Amino acid sequence: MIKLHQLPLGPADNLIYLLQDEATQATAVIDPAWDVPAIMEQAAVRGCVIDRILLTHTHHDHVNGVDQLLDHCDVPVFVHPREVPVWPGTPETWHPLAEGDVLHLGETELRVLETPGHSPGGVCFQFDSRMIVGDTIFVYGCGHCRAPGADPAQLFASLQRLKQEVLPETTLYPGHDYGATSVTTMAEQRAGNPWLQLSDEAAFIRHRRHGCGRSTPYGPYTFT
Ligand SMILES: [Fe+2]
Repeated sequence: MIKLHQLPLGPADNLIYLLQDEATQATAVIDPAWDVPAIMEQAAVRGCVIDRILLTHTHHDHVNGVDQLLDHCDVPVFVHPREVPVWPGTPETWHPLAEGDVLHLGETELRVLETPGHSPGGVCFQFDSRMIVGDTIFVYGCGHCRAPGADPAQLFASLQRLKQEVLPETTLYPGHDYGATSVTTMAEQRAGNPWLQLSDEAAFIRHRRHGCGRSTPYGPYTFT
């Protein structure tokens, strides 16, 4: 089993995660950013043994603590290869992530799903009935397509894929706390996330390019 600790940090409502394998205490830090001392303190309090850094993508607000964390613990950094060209700070010794990879964190298996669109090498991490979804999907929202390498058609395909493949009871843990809650389920998102309800790619791209006029915290919504 795995314990998951969600840390809200920084000025952009980021959510940083500690995934702690209960059998061995081996811990992955996902998207370390903003306040490395706070991350280290939480890890220490909970008895975590940090053994890797996993990145859902490499936008600044998700990776600005990587270097400082590496100063404290010499651990591998896992990132999708398509992120490297858009991340000048990629450590020299990075490890590639790919669709279908199974990462062994102590006795826990994490499955990698490629979900590009918000960024070129965006990924999600799935384990038991939970999934870390980065900025691909938020609670009643989804990531923007304004940064280099973003592609709204890819994001549409990634969201449709998650909608079809992820079981309704799966708990989703997003990269930002933009919603009425900081955690949700796929069932809740299928029912009320406007970006999952758009089944037409052109309409999705139009809404994503021109904004949608919503303000946080996001709740259930339907585009008109
Ligand atoms: Fe992002």
